[in-house]
Amino acid sequence: MAAVAKEHGSAAVNGKKWHDQHPELGTAPVPIEPYISQEYFNLERERIFRKVWLNVGREEEIPQPGDYLVKDLPVCGASILLVRGKDGRLRAFHNVCSHRSNKLVWDRGGSCQMFACKFHGWTYGLNGQLTFVPDEESFFELKKGELGLTPVAADTWEGFIFINLDPQPRESLKDYLGEMGESLQGYPFAEYSATCYRWTTELRANWKILKDAFQEAYHVAFLHKRSIPDSFTGKNNPFSHGLDYRLYPRHRKMAVYGNMEHQPTPVEKMAFQFGSLVIRNDFSLSNLPPGVNPTRDPAWALDLNVIFPNFFVDVSEGTYFTYNMWPLAVDRTLWEVRTYYPQPKTAGQRFSQEYSKVIFRDVIMEDCSTLEQTQSVLASGAKTHFVLQDQEILIRHDHKVHEDFVGFYRQQ
Ligand code: FES
Ligand SMILES: [Fe+2]
Repeated sequence: MAAVAKEHGSAAVNGKKWHDQHPELGTAPVPIEPYISQEYFNLERERIFRKVWLNVGREEEIPQPGDYLVKDLPVCGASILLVRGKDGRLRAFHNVCSHRSNKLVWDRGGSCQMFACKFHGWTYGLNGQLTFVPDEESFFELKKGELGLTPVAADTWEGFIFINLDPQPRESLKDYLGEMGESLQGYPFAEYSATCYRWTTELRANWKILKDAFQEAYHVAFLHKRSIPDSFTGKNNPFSHGLDYRLYPRHRKMAVYGNMEHQPTPVEKMAFQFGSLVIRNDFSLSNLPPGVNPTRDPAWALDLNVIFPNFFVDVSEGTYFTYNMWPLAVDRTLWEVRTYYPQPKTAGQRFSQEYSKVIFRDVIMEDCSTLEQTQSVLASGAKTHFVLQDQEILIRHDHKVHEDFVGFYRQQ
């Protein structure tokens, strides 16, 4: 299934298009309906978000016993409580009191010894067991042992915490991630997660509009001409053709071209010197595991890794960043962006990370600018389909995976 590029910036391998390697995807325009249909959205909720593994954080966020994190998932009408037990184990529960279903924890995270419901004071241990009920004698045959918090399946991969709302997940997290998980094995996620900057925003756009915008580089020469005019495009690759594309049964990845002839500005030069930047030209590829930049192309900037349904882990050398796109409604999405760096050891490294962060923010602000504009005209009916080119193969693959789960067109 994997494809290998012989030459960076080529539109094809051995004169063929990437699509030629995936005839199962076809080349026809793809329908707009899944971006505006309430019925489709309802099916996504039931058949995707309630069934698959979802990334909800990193282990560094709750390192000590008693540390907890609350993750609201409006798409599933749920709130999840993640907590590190006294035994050091990470557990997940529905954040719902067993008495009359009040939301148990209202803040976003912290550290505690127990959880007490604000409504009538029912109290739970870090392992989810119900430990105290005020005026217990007035209840009828109360079985405290059966009234703990409702557990949710939780597991970790490379320090990322995933949950699965299916009471009986159909497969383990390891199996779910499959080859995608294996391809990132050995990437220094723990080392690079010492510093994290994050942004969160709510957008009036379907969550797939966001996903699509970050799984192709066709837009770079146009949308990013101000912020990064020639970092990802060059004389030999004016449209930022991908170096390599790999499609897995659910997930997918792309190696992104970086222009090694880019002449850094004086301030960039200073930032390059000290490390953590996606846009630079002195990568030491040997430090990266073989699944990253798999063709070992020297003109490489980063890999986009799209983990179905809503998690991006985009890796470079010295930094990585993630996106989580959480649907709120068919036309509203909560977007979480995080950018990670190793612990800076010198003022120069700190400067480099700050600079990298600001450039990254400018670029994603440009990305952000088209999303609501696109959604605002989708329902007009002016167009019924998106037209995709060869370099938009990840988007086409995403459509297929969605349809595999949702079955919207199969049932019609
Ligand atoms: S709803 Fe929580 S104690 Fe009553
Ligand atoms: Fe972009």
